[in-house]
Amino acid sequence: MKAAYFENYGSIEQLKVKAQPIPEPADNEVLVRNHASSLNFGNVGHVKGEPFLIRAFTGFGSPKNHIPGGDVSGVVEKVGRQVTGFNPGDEVMGDAAESGFGAFAEYVTVKSNAVVPKPANLSYEETATLPLAACTALAGLKKGSIQSGQSVLIVGSTGSVGPFAVQIAKSYGAEVTAVCSGNKAGFVRSMGADHIIDYKIIEDFTGNDTKYDLVAGIAGTHSMSDFKKKLTRTGIYVNIGGSMKQFSNAFITGPFLYLFSRQKFTMLMYMADNQSLLEVKQMAEEGAIKPTITKAFPLEQIREVYRYYESGHAAGKIVITI
Ligand SMILES: NC(=O)c1ccc[n+]([C@@H]2O[C@H](COP(=O)([O-])OP(=O)(O)OC[C@H]3O[C@@H](n4cnc5c(N)ncnc54)[C@H](OP(=O)(O)O)[C@@H]3O)[C@@H](O)[C@H]2O)c1
Repeated sequence: MKAAYFENYGSIEQLKVKAQPIPEPADNEVLVRNHASSLNFGNVGHVKGEPFLIRAFTGFGSPKNHIPGGDVSGVVEKVGRQVTGFNPGDEVMGDAAESGFGAFAEYVTVKSNAVVPKPANLSYEETATLPLAACTALAGLKKGSIQSGQSVLIVGSTGSVGPFAVQIAKSYGAEVTAVCSGNKAGFVRSMGADHIIDYKIIEDFTGNDTKYDLVAGIAGTHSMSDFKKKLTRTGIYVNIGGSMKQFSNAFITGPFLYLFSRQKFTMLMYMADNQSLLEVKQMAEEGAIKPTITKAFPLEQIREVYRYYESGHAAGKIVITI
């Protein structure tokens, strides 16, 4: 089979398309003929081996897996001996992150608890935008106990996770303020954002007195006290992503800062699960979330995929057609 391949941690320029053996599904896995995938922040980290913490998942000294990619959108080819509920020929979407990655390839094995039927109304390419990004956005907002009528601040609304966070928050009936770079404001408004804060040109989100019931930290380099100041008296901050500085700040200072407060602090560590995938499938079929394809490339142009991501031009998902 054809697969995107890299040997050791380092430059994205080493990526190439190489013939690889078709993997064999374990007893609890399905083998999927993958028709499309999409790029996430972690897939870039997998190849570069940075931020260093990512190696806890991908291997400390050298990469455990040489084919990157998590998002799966295709057709079941074969099922493991213990798998029930799936048969060859079923159209599925899934997340191979906890199955050793390998989705930037014609065939990929995925644990059966991270696979669900594909949304009926979407193409393979559209479906490929959903598994990690939309499920992370959904899990993060649920962890923050999102409710109708709340005011929600989403810091980092243009990448993979952010646009789904905006759409999902709106579908819950929240009033959404989205932080993004100004040239992508139109895109974020088209996702449903009510208010935009341009973090590059106009203002920092900490520069006014507005408070929010729920703040989702997806990107940036802010301190935990910056986020805390933006919360209402009983508001919740959920840390989803951001720079290493923001992440370590959340990890070290976050819980202590909120010890004697009615405000709450929480961090998301999303692990692929059927329940989130099924909810996202339903939301897609109901039109509550729409895929956000910024550009699609064939697998053969895998280096272009990574270069386009690094250019910072992407607003939404970069899709890989296979
Ligand atoms: N907790 C979990 O389980 C989990 C799961 C998946 C991902 N994540 C994390 O979530 C984060 C986002 O992932 P992603 O795939 O969406 O990343 P991404 O595609 O790289 O998007 C990040 C976006 O953040 C924006 N940004 C950068 N600095 C910002 C700032 N100071 N304020 C506001 N926006 C800023 C950039 O948009 P502009 O063009 O607008 O500058 C960029 O498009 C990553 O840190 C990732 O590790 C966490």
